[in-house]
Amino acid sequence: MNERKSDGTSRREFLTNTTRTVSASALAGIALPAVHAAESNTIQLALVGCGGRGTGAATDALTISNGPIKLVSMADVVPKKMSDSYDKLKTQFGDRVDVPADRRFLGYDAYQHAMDALKPGDVVILGTPPAFRWVMFSRAIEKGLNVFMEKPVTVDGPTTRRMLKLGELSQQKGLKVGVGLMVRHCRARQELKKRIQDGAIGEIVAMRGYRMGQGGGTSGPCPAGVSELGWQIGHFHAFLWASGGVFSDYYIHQIDECSWMKGVWPVEAHAMGGRHYRGDSLDQNLDTYHVEYVYPDGTRLFFDGRNMKGCRDEFASYAHGSKGSAAISTLSHTPGITRIYSGQKIPRVNSRKELPLPEDPNVVWAYPQPERSPYLWEWDDLIAAIRDDKPYNEVKRGAEASLVASMGRMAAHTGQIITFDQILNCEHEFAPDVDKLTLDGPPPLRLMADGRYPVPQPGIKTDREY
Ligand SMILES: NC(=O)c1ccc[n+]([C@@H]2O[C@H](COP(=O)([O-])OP(=O)(O)OC[C@H]3O[C@@H](n4cnc5c(N)ncnc54)[C@H](O)[C@@H]3O)[C@@H](O)[C@H]2O)c1
Repeated sequence: MNERKSDGTSRREFLTNTTRTVSASALAGIALPAVHAAESNTIQLALVGCGGRGTGAATDALTISNGPIKLVSMADVVPKKMSDSYDKLKTQFGDRVDVPADRRFLGYDAYQHAMDALKPGDVVILGTPPAFRWVMFSRAIEKGLNVFMEKPVTVDGPTTRRMLKLGELSQQKGLKVGVGLMVRHCRARQELKKRIQDGAIGEIVAMRGYRMGQGGGTSGPCPAGVSELGWQIGHFHAFLWASGGVFSDYYIHQIDECSWMKGVWPVEAHAMGGRHYRGDSLDQNLDTYHVEYVYPDGTRLFFDGRNMKGCRDEFASYAHGSKGSAAISTLSHTPGITRIYSGQKIPRVNSRKELPLPEDPNVVWAYPQPERSPYLWEWDDLIAAIRDDKPYNEVKRGAEASLVASMGRMAAHTGQIITFDQILNCEHEFAPDVDKLTLDGPPPLRLMADGRYPVPQPGIKTDREY
């Protein structure tokens, strides 16, 4: 269904239509031509999920300068999200946003139509909540499309296993797939990793990660007459099936960047958290999380997440070594303000108002400012790989990063130690029928008799999160 045909009433904002899993045989049967911008030099983009990040990713793709790129189709389930995104991109990029109304699709099957507007070797941006990632990625593989997909790419063990298989299939087909863990493309962090590998801070003995902000991930009750499924999707940070909660959606970056610096994934997580101030919110998150991630050599990453108004914010990650320490991220993803210190004294930076940082005699190396945004670098790298037809596939590391986030979250939500193997083999799939959702059908998460959704109960529910 295209945008002109939608009547856009609140209930109908979430349109029916069924999306089926692509069968393995269908995928195996596709013989692809060379997987780069075929025929002309222009790489065409489809944007699926036209919210904040999807629109941002399209903006980044259209901003970099590596040959012609244009946006030709868009898909969403909410008319206003689509129109706001279209207006913004059109105003900024003019003719390079070539998306007439009949290539702006709405509904649960809209992603299929948006991908149908592309040729093999073009790029589809997957910017919906992560619950839909494996469904849409299956279709992209079937169509021979290169992909940029936002993190997290999975929310639980079963979807991770599925995504790892899809990643292998996309690799066999030579597709280029970027995953929005953009810090890994940051030149400052890449230089820091090289220096850490070369021994600049000695052996890493501990790491710290922080993502503490003023709340988020709450949800009131679904209003009468509104699709409950649509409501949950619209408040996806509140519901574990849709996003993995604030834990997976927000904290994955710090956990991933620290693990990248260490060069290995943690093997287990021991965690705690509490739900103190969420009032009448019906969401499934905790207010506070503390996770001790354990790496194979016994090194720990201590991660703190907090969603609480009035408390001090922190958005940073640090590595401590036997000969010095390093700031991996100081205040946010960009600029990284990435530094190496001679000792263990890394100053706390409370706000951007404190930038640029004053001279510090303990700094032995600092990446020069201003840093180019990693959100642009990740597009430079993906498009260069497509144009040069070089191997480029980030699905495995994206799925593993998502799994490691789920490992810490499950440890906090159950109050148990959770190992990498346990979360990978965990059978609790939060939304088994996410590929079959319909407007009037039930959402994957149902209200209980008391009118609330189930929340984690550490120590009471110990083998599943809710
Ligand atoms: N890499 C980063 O730094 C970063 C930053 C922000 C968000 N993200 C990620 O981007 C994703 C989206 O986050 P956001 O902040 O843009 O959320 P958002 O709510 O602004 O956008 C999501 C969009 O997807 C649409 N949508 C939902 N289900 C859909 C479906 N089945 N088919 C088509 N469209 C659908 C929604 O209507 C909405 O417009 C999340 O996975 C999030 O973690 C990444």
